[in-house]
Amino acid sequence: MTNNLSFSGNTILIVDDNPTNLGVIFNVLDEAGLEVLVAQDGESALQKTEYVIPDLILLDIMMPGIDGFETCSRLKTNPSTSDIPIIFMTALGNTEQKVKGLSLGAVDYITKPFKKEEVLARMKVHLELRNLTKALASKNQLLEEKIQEKTRLEETLQRLNQELETRVEARTTELKQALQNLQQTQLQLIQSEKMSTLGQLVAGVAHEINNPVAFIHGNLNHTERYIQDLLTIFQLYQQQTPSPDPAITTLAEEVDLEYLIQDLPQVISSMKVGVERIRQISVSLRTFSRTDNTSKQETNLHEGIDSALLILKYRLKANEKILPIEVIKNYGDLPLVPCYPGQLNQVFINIIANAIDALEEAGFKRNSEAIKANPSQIIIKTEVDPSQNNVSIRIKDNGLGMSEEIRSKIFDYLFTTKPPEKGTGLGLSISYQIVVEKHCGQLNCYSQPGVGTEFIIKIPLS
Ligand SMILES: Nc1ncnc2c1ncn2[C@@H]1O[C@H](COP(=O)(O)OP(=O)(O)O)[C@@H](O)[C@H]1O
Ligand SMILES: [Mg+2]
Repeated sequence: MTNNLSFSGNTILIVDDNPTNLGVIFNVLDEAGLEVLVAQDGESALQKTEYVIPDLILLDIMMPGIDGFETCSRLKTNPSTSDIPIIFMTALGNTEQKVKGLSLGAVDYITKPFKKEEVLARMKVHLELRNLTKALASKNQLLEEKIQEKTRLEETLQRLNQELETRVEARTTELKQALQNLQQTQLQLIQSEKMSTLGQLVAGVAHEINNPVAFIHGNLNHTERYIQDLLTIFQLYQQQTPSPDPAITTLAEEVDLEYLIQDLPQVISSMKVGVERIRQISVSLRTFSRTDNTSKQETNLHEGIDSALLILKYRLKANEKILPIEVIKNYGDLPLVPCYPGQLNQVFINIIANAIDALEEAGFKRNSEAIKANPSQIIIKTEVDPSQNNVSIRIKDNGLGMSEEIRSKIFDYLFTTKPPEKGTGLGLSISYQIVVEKHCGQLNCYSQPGVGTEFIIKIPLS
C-alpha cells in the first residue's frame, strides 16, 4: 500500500462468522499496516472490547447468536465503547439494512463482495476522523485542564487580593488611629505646656502685682483721711487768718486753691476705683491661670467667664477700626460645676476671642449704617438642664458666620481661615478636647454666613 502511514498503529476489530470474508478483509487490512483483531460472533466481539478498545469496528449483520444490529446497539450503550466508529458490512443493494445500521449509530457501510480500494478508502476516512476526534478530545481535555488551572489561579489571586485589601484596610485604620493619637498627644502637650508657662507667668505677675496694689489700696484710705484732716485744718487756718500775707494769696491764686480743694477728694476716689480695678484684674488673672490638671473642683463657671471677658476687655472697646462690641450676659442660676476650671477658662477665652475676630472681620466689611442697625454683640447665656443633668453655656455672636464647609472643619487640628500671624488653628481643637474628652461634655457650633455663630458648651453635672 502506498498510503498505509496514516493507518499504522490503528487497531481494527472485524466481526464476521464467515471465515472466507474474514480472511479477505484481514489480508487487505494487514497489508495496509493495521493491527487487526477478529471475532466470529457478536458475543465474542463484545467480550474483546472489554480488554482492547479498537479504533474502528467492521461489523457483519447476519451472524449466529446476537446479530450485527444488536451488537451495534450494545456497543453504543456502553460508555467505554460508544465512541468507536462502526462500519457495517452489508449485502449489495440492501437499502433497508444500510438505513437501519446508520440509524443505530454506524458511521458507514461497505458492501459485499468487497472492493479492496473502496474498503481502504472508507476505512481511511473514518480512521482519520477517529484520530482527529481523539486528538481533538485530548486537546480539549488539555484545554479544560488549563482553564481549570487558570480558574484556580484566578481564585487564588482573588483571595490573595482580598487578603491584601483587608490587610491594607486594617493597617490604614491602625495608622489613622496612630495619627489621631499623636495629634491628641501633641495637643495635650501644647496645651499643658502653654498652660503651664503662660499660667505660671500670669500667676507670677498677678502675685507680684498683688502686694504693691494691696499697700496702695491700704494707704489710699489713710491718705484720704490725712488729706481730709489737712483740709479741715487748712480751712480753720483760713478762718483764723482772714487777711494772709500777699505772697500766700498770690500763690493760692496761681495754683487755683479753690479748685484744688474741691478736686482733691475726687482724685483720691478715682485712684481708689483704679486700684480696685487692678485688684480685680489680679484676682481674675489668678482665677484664669489656675493650673489644675490633677483633680476636678466644684467651680463657679460665671467667675471663669467673667475673668475671660476681663482679659479680653481691651478687644471689646471701640478703636479707630471698629465700633465697640456689646457683651450681654444672660446668666442663669448655676450650681457649682465639677470641672478643671483653668481648662474651661481656656475654652471660654478661645471661643470669645473667635467671636471677637468674627465681629471685627464683619466690622471691616460692613458700613457704619449697617453696624448701627445691627450692633456687634456677644450674648452669653448659661442655664441648667435638670433633665440632662448638665449645664450649658451658649456663646453667640452676630459676626461674619461661616459656610457649612468651614463649619465642618473648625474642630480639626490646625484648621484656620485666618492669616498666620492671627490664627493658629489650635483654639477650637484644644477646646473640643477639653470639653469632650476631659469633661465628657459636648461642644457644638451652629453658624449662618452673614448672620452669626453660636457655640454651645455642655458640661455634665456629675
Ligand atoms: N465665631 C466664629 N465665627 C466665624 N468663624 C469662626 C468662629 N469661631 C471659629 N471660626 C472659624 O474656625 C476656625 C478655627 O478656629 P480656631 O480653632 O480657634 O483657630 P484660629 O482662631 O486660630 O483660626 C477659624 O479660623 C474660623 O474660620
Ligand atoms: Mg481661635
